[in-house]
Amino acid sequence: MAGNWKMHKTPAEAGNFARLLRQRVAPGRGVEVIICPPFPALAAVATKLAGSEIGWGAQNMHWEPEGAYTGEVSGPMLQAMGCRYVILGHSERRSYFRETDEEIRKKVGAALACGLRPIFCLGENLATRRSGKAVDFCRRQFKDVLEGMEISVPDALVVAYEPVWAIGTGKTATPADATEVIGALREEAARLFGREFSARLRFLYGGSVKPDSMPAFLEEEEIDGVLVGGASLDIEQFTAIIDITA
Ligand code: G3P
Repeated sequence: MAGNWKMHKTPAEAGNFARLLRQRVAPGRGVEVIICPPFPALAAVATKLAGSEIGWGAQNMHWEPEGAYTGEVSGPMLQAMGCRYVILGHSERRSYFRETDEEIRKKVGAALACGLRPIFCLGENLATRRSGKAVDFCRRQFKDVLEGMEISVPDALVVAYEPVWAIGTGKTATPADATEVIGALREEAARLFGREFSARLRFLYGGSVKPDSMPAFLEEEEIDGVLVGGASLDIEQFTAIIDITA
């Protein structure tokens, strides 16, 4: 269960949320919970969650470990802040900041190289969904970023299927549609990395997940968890989503 806070919450707000989350999520629940705050709030979240089972991650990084890249943050810097994960290839970065599959590929490789687990996001837009080409499109995004990548264990990576038209719109994919895409991605993973790897690779669904829409996704065998945007900003909604899995 991952929360993507996008550009929300100050360090004080984030620290307070993390403190409450730690109180509410009992250890040993068998569900991995992580939150991904904006960069300035990482330290506050790390302080409140240190020593707990709840992890934290960032929402982006540069592929170089350091250098003259004004405004950028590197994987080793995130690692040093205790990040376990980093969201890469989110559709908001692809559309507003023109991130390409080639750049995302470099970022995923750099994250893996420094021990961060990428949450690699992909998904089709509405026109592609309507044209009936969603599965092929997502399969291509998956392949373009991951083909030939050295990935030691399936746990080192998480893939999030987030149809662009479902993000922040209140519309979700049907669990069957999400399963169709994720099933195809698992096939592609089997082709690239072998069946055993593919069976253990974790796939999340993201796009307008709320406590009431969430159970239907988790009933699908192909879907291992959810990447939650808006509902992860609210402690009641996010803990309700986590509680459904317990
Ligand atoms: O990464 C999470 C995401 O893009 C979904 O956002 O607000 O539709 O849950 P939201």
